[in-house]
Parts: sequence; C-alpha cells; structure tokens
Amino acid sequence: MPGPMEEIVTTAPTTPAAVLPGTRVDAAGVVLRGVGRTFGDHRVLAPLDLDLAAGGTVALVGASGSGKSTLLRLIAGLDTPSTGAVTVAGEPVRGVHPRTAVVFQEPRLLPWRDLAGNVAFGLPRGTSRADGRAEVLRWLEVVGLEEFAGHRPRRVSGGMAQRTALARALVRRPGVLLLDEPFAALDALTRLKMQDLLDEVQRSTGATVVFVTHDVDEALHLADRVLVLGKDGQDEDGARIVRDLAVEAPRPRDRADAATARLRVELLDLLGVPRSA
Ligand SMILES: Nc1ncnc2c1ncn2[C@@H]1O[C@H](COP(=O)(O)OP(=O)(O)OP(=O)(O)O)[C@@H](O)[C@H]1O
Ligand SMILES: [Mg+2]
Repeated sequence: MPGPMEEIVTTAPTTPAAVLPGTRVDAAGVVLRGVGRTFGDHRVLAPLDLDLAAGGTVALVGASGSGKSTLLRLIAGLDTPSTGAVTVAGEPVRGVHPRTAVVFQEPRLLPWRDLAGNVAFGLPRGTSRADGRAEVLRWLEVVGLEEFAGHRPRRVSGGMAQRTALARALVRRPGVLLLDEPFAALDALTRLKMQDLLDEVQRSTGATVVFVTHDVDEALHLADRVLVLGKDGQDEDGARIVRDLAVEAPRPRDRADAATARLRVELLDLLGVPRSA
C-alpha cells in the first residue's frame, strides 16, 4: 500500500504507432502429440494433438475447470504431461523452454525493485549489462512505460503493473508468448486498451501468442484462431478441443465489426450461453 504522501500514478497504454524497430522475434511453432494430463485418477486433458503455426494469435477458451491453465502450463514447460510430448520450435519441452515466456493474471512483480529492475529480471542469462539496459528500455517503451522505469510497483496502477509484466516477458524475445487470463483483474477500460497493446505487440514482434480468456469478445478481437476446450464425451474422458475456429477478419480489428458477430453467437453457444439469454 502506498504511504500517505505517495500518489499512485497511472498512465494509459499508448500503443506504438507502427512496428517499432528492433522488436521482431524469431517466432516458434508449438506441436502437441498425444498430450494428456491426469491428476491422481482425475483425467483433466484427454490425449490431444495440436499444431500451432509460428506467428499469429491463438485464444484458448472453455468453461472454468476445463483445463485451459493446465494446457498452457504444459506448453510453458511448467508442468509435465502424463502422456505424450510437447515441442517448441521442434525441440522437446522439458522444463521452461528458453524460447517461451509466460504472463499470468497477477503481475507478480518484486516490490523492492523498480519497474526497470523487474523487467530486467526477465533478461536471458548471460546478457551483458549494456545490452540488458538497452533491451529493458526498449520494451518499457513498447508498453508505454519508459518514463516510469524508476517507479516501484506499489506506486503504479494495476494496468501499468501488468504492462511491466508483459515487458518482463518480452525482454526474453520469446518465440512463443503464453498468457493466462492476462487482463482478467483489470477494469473494463484498461482491459480494452491492454487488448490493443497485446495486438500491437504481436503484430510488431511476429511472435506466436497463445492466451487464455473467458471473454469471447476479447478472443474475437485478438485471435486468428480460437480453440474451445471442453468435453463431448464422458466426464472421465477429460477435455479435448471441441472447436477450432479460424477468425479471418484482418487485424487490427474494429470492435464494431459485424463480421465476427456470427462467430460470437457460435462461441457463446459452445460455452453454454444461449443466444436469447
Ligand atoms: N496441480 C493440480 N492438482 C490436482 N488437480 C489439478 C491441478 N491443477 C489443476 N487441477 C484440476 O484440473 C482441472 C482443470 O484445471 P485448470 O486450472 O486447468 O482449469 P481452467 O480451465 O484453467 O479453469 P479456470 O477457468 O477456472 O481458470 C480442475 O479440475 C483442477 O482442479
Ligand atoms: Mg485457469
């Protein structure tokens, strides 16, 4: 909590006007073969096969408890599949792969480090001091926080903290950027701005972005492909991908775009929300 003399600063994410020089990454593809996960005798994920091409944005949606975080953690190398294997850029995932970075719902910043120090925490091992400093400033600029490099996390808004977490992930130059409900804890307006920032970041870096969301509109605004995780068989079978939907509309998308309205109805229906509710 800030002290009485400390004002919480807040600044809206300003999305970079164009592709920022030097932000391109080497995008990586993700392949899952027969990947299943059971906890004890509880099967969460049915063995599933999935191919995510390098580059582009994939949204993962599904009911609460359907296994979205479990699937993301398996891709991230934060968890090990009970069966099957995951590869990133053709390499088997064992532990956190150096080409992937993860953003969680909470920013998880170190309170005693300033924003630049928190972003620097994401730098790959062996980065020189000078390179590290330049990279930290570059990504702080991408997320619109270069002026706040010396601020402590407790002095900035929730949206800014989450942008710092995004910069900390990007400083790794990940070929695959994984995000688990990254904007769920933010207010509605900040959330919309963060969506546009993530869209800009994906287009600027060219990374493969996979994000989990409960928000169908968020999925349709950002994703080129929406995967719906769910069950179509017996409960004990575990979840699989019940729908794999391509979103053709070019990005960046207009929120008023009627072209995605049909997909919205279809997705809500799959998630058990009837059209006239
Ligand atoms: N480490 C664990 N040990 C035991 N069960 C687990 C573990 N992790 C997840 N589960 C179980 O796996 C199922 C799927 O969980 P998961 O967190 O992947 O769902 P989710 O789709 O991300 O849900 P939410 O939308 O609520 O975040 C749940 O039944 C959960 O209890
Ligand atoms: Mg989850």
